[in-house]
Amino acid sequence: MSKVLVTGGAGFIGSHIVEGLLEEGYEVVVMDNFSSGKFENIKDLPIQICPFDITDPRVIDVIVDLNPSFIIHQAAQVSVAESVHDILHDENVNVKGSLHVIKAAIRASVEKILFASSAAVYGNPVELPVTTEHPTLPESPYGLTKLTVEKYLKLAYKFYGLSYGILRYSNVYGPRQDGKGEGGVISIFADRILENEAPIIFGSGEQTRDFIYVKDVANANIQALKQQENVCLNISSNNRISINQLWGKISDIGEVVFKPIYKKERDGDILHSILCNEQTMAQLEWKPQTNLENGLRETLYSSKKVLQK
Ligand SMILES: NC(=O)c1ccc[n+]([C@@H]2O[C@H](COP(=O)([O-])OP(=O)(O)OC[C@H]3O[C@@H](n4cnc5c(N)ncnc54)[C@H](O)[C@@H]3O)[C@@H](O)[C@H]2O)c1
Repeated sequence: MSKVLVTGGAGFIGSHIVEGLLEEGYEVVVMDNFSSGKFENIKDLPIQICPFDITDPRVIDVIVDLNPSFIIHQAAQVSVAESVHDILHDENVNVKGSLHVIKAAIRASVEKILFASSAAVYGNPVELPVTTEHPTLPESPYGLTKLTVEKYLKLAYKFYGLSYGILRYSNVYGPRQDGKGEGGVISIFADRILENEAPIIFGSGEQTRDFIYVKDVANANIQALKQQENVCLNISSNNRISINQLWGKISDIGEVVFKPIYKKERDGDILHSILCNEQTMAQLEWKPQTNLENGLRETLYSSKKVLQK
């Protein structure tokens, strides 16, 4: 049974990846500093938990001692706004921390490392939908650090033969999400319903996003582990919806009527985003299984954020 180390495995996406790996029969080790991840996300799972910070250089030896066959690297500073606010912290976790993990992957001779990248590497799209051939011109420190790690992975392959998979997620949503990450708007909207308050929308609300359900992202990671080739793929729904329309759908499901409060758009936010997933479906045994309607219902009901139906 292959051992998989999941960094950030106590987080929103990481914990779903862990569950998917266990279902497939992998042995799993989670490494997390629990800065945004939660122990309760993984506490009942038959896994090894290694509470460690990837920015600590000793992590390299710790990972080598764990001797994983694969690494799925999810740990990160995940907020675009925070990356603008504290550029050094973003660099420290997302670049230096990732380099520790990459160095450990080389020393441990892992079969493959997967990296959670982001639509933020593209910046403001010059054409839609965005394919992986699209220019990469990040508009935020977060996008830049993600792109930097992608480039280090390509060099690690060139110099050390480390196999990699780069998965560029669109906006991920689903159960266990909190409001801080990129797809966090759905979780924030659900909280507003629970608090019986109007939602806050930054900008006009006409900005569009491509939302992908978290279990589809977890499944893409598991399929990417089985790929022989190095890949750089979009993990997305290939559909987009405006934030105003999204609020319409969520408020319908939650059966509330609130007019949104509009505020100034946030630094680093891009206007429109939709990622093409055709190449992903051609290269991986994967396609999104959960449409937005069903995903929103599962998210709202599973988190008991709206009244149970
Ligand atoms: N949520 C999205 O929409 C989205 C979109 C694109 C990319 N991503 C990427 O996916 C990955 C997972 O994001 P998420 O949404 O699950 O966020 P999350 O905050 O739930 O998960 C991040 C995890 O990393 C851990 N972590 C953070 N810093 C660490 C450190 N220094 N050492 C060890 N562990 C650390 C956190 O405790 C947490 O468990 C991240 O790399 C993120 O950038 C997320």
